[in-house]
Amino acid sequence: MNVKIREDEFLIPFFKENEFIRKQCKICGSYFWTQNPEAEICGDSPCQNYTFINNPPTKKHLSLREMRQLFLSFFEKNGHEVIKPYPIVARWREDVYFVGASIFNFQPYVTDGVIPPPANPLVVSQPCLRFNDLDNVGPTAGRHLVIFEMGGAHAFNYPNKKVYWKDETIRFHHEFLTKELGVNSSAVTYKEHFWVGGGNAGPDVEACVAGLEISTLVFMVYKIINENLIESPIKTVDTGYGIERWTWLSQGTVSGFHAIYDSILNKIFEYAGLKPDEKLLAESSKLSGEMNIESLKDKIEARKKVAEKTGLNWVELDKILTPIEAAYAIADHTKALAFIISEGVVPSNVEEGYLARLLVRRTYRMLKLLGIEDKFLDIIDLQISYWGNDFPNLKLMRNEILEILEAEKEKYEKTVEKGVETVKKLSANLKAKKIFEFPIEYLIELYDSHGLIPEIVKEIAEKEGLQVL
Ligand code: ALA
Repeated sequence: MNVKIREDEFLIPFFKENEFIRKQCKICGSYFWTQNPEAEICGDSPCQNYTFINNPPTKKHLSLREMRQLFLSFFEKNGHEVIKPYPIVARWREDVYFVGASIFNFQPYVTDGVIPPPANPLVVSQPCLRFNDLDNVGPTAGRHLVIFEMGGAHAFNYPNKKVYWKDETIRFHHEFLTKELGVNSSAVTYKEHFWVGGGNAGPDVEACVAGLEISTLVFMVYKIINENLIESPIKTVDTGYGIERWTWLSQGTVSGFHAIYDSILNKIFEYAGLKPDEKLLAESSKLSGEMNIESLKDKIEARKKVAEKTGLNWVELDKILTPIEAAYAIADHTKALAFIISEGVVPSNVEEGYLARLLVRRTYRMLKLLGIEDKFLDIIDLQISYWGNDFPNLKLMRNEILEILEAEKEKYEKTVEKGVETVKKLSANLKAKKIFEFPIEYLIELYDSHGLIPEIVKEIAEKEGLQVL
């Protein structure tokens, strides 16, 4: 939805008092607020590279758990009631399978005024799932994740009862960042934007530090009906603090996965016999803010840029980084699977079950790449222990999670076995007809009907002497 943000939308006392000025990014053209009169770019990726790697701008270095706690207690101290996270499977909604933002908990019933919120204002650290950036999970060093916690401080303003609005929202954010964490105020930019999600919309600011967007502060004033923006009588403060990104920023590690998964990631590296070169990872990570993998071409371009900086050629670099990025994605996907299955989802070909199956297959493919597919359930078990203290349902459901994933893994292995025979037969038929290129339609068909991913088909067909593009 392309909406022009009014020039006066963010003329708020906080910006004025603190001498923030409105500027236009010379790269992306967005308007942003800064205290630095020299600033020319919005501070977000891809306009700016990361400057916090090995150089965190915070005075505290926090684990994910500590960051979550600090966030919740800051808002509690400021009049918000802390509520427990909602399930990750959004069974109360018809439009989505999973909770993709903390505000999803309250849409549509609270945001439409059908029921009151459980507290007002409230704060929650809500586990969320997003499947729209799968190919970027790993290559962007931690900016994209399937599973993450969104720190949501929410206030619901009714026509006859105002709680708080833009000025207080940005003040809270800025105070948390600068006073609690010690980030220099002039290093923060607030980029103007318009957020749409879960049936509502409104102008927002995206807060960026050192090239990383860490929060989105949305002022939901609209309900979307038949693609039209209709002003809603309830005005909702919808903030999303990316707890993993805040944690990463505070640690300045070479990837967000190092900050989030720590001992689990090390274990995956150990299983796979990987000994990552931290210096190389740091170089690659600093540039990953520019990265957005939408195609193989993007990936090669990104590799070439990092290769130039590090003096390696991009093919060599790709050989080093691909397994490490696979380890990152495994850390993320196995956590997501533990959470999803703990809520009773069974992998299948429909709805949320389909997404669970997709994740199992992606994970399995990456484990295979690292030669550690036998460690799948061990890694799941590590995730259950690692997150189980904060999310006790994982521990309660441990046996079910492991059983279901074991069954799914076996099913997948059988599918692949059968698929191998099919690919061999198809290859023989093609060769008999003097066709030496494996048709793309076959790739699609094999994926749809046998769940065989193109990489596996390619491997088998090439062994049979066929070319696969
Ligand atoms: N709902 C907003 C987001 O997801 C805060 O970014």
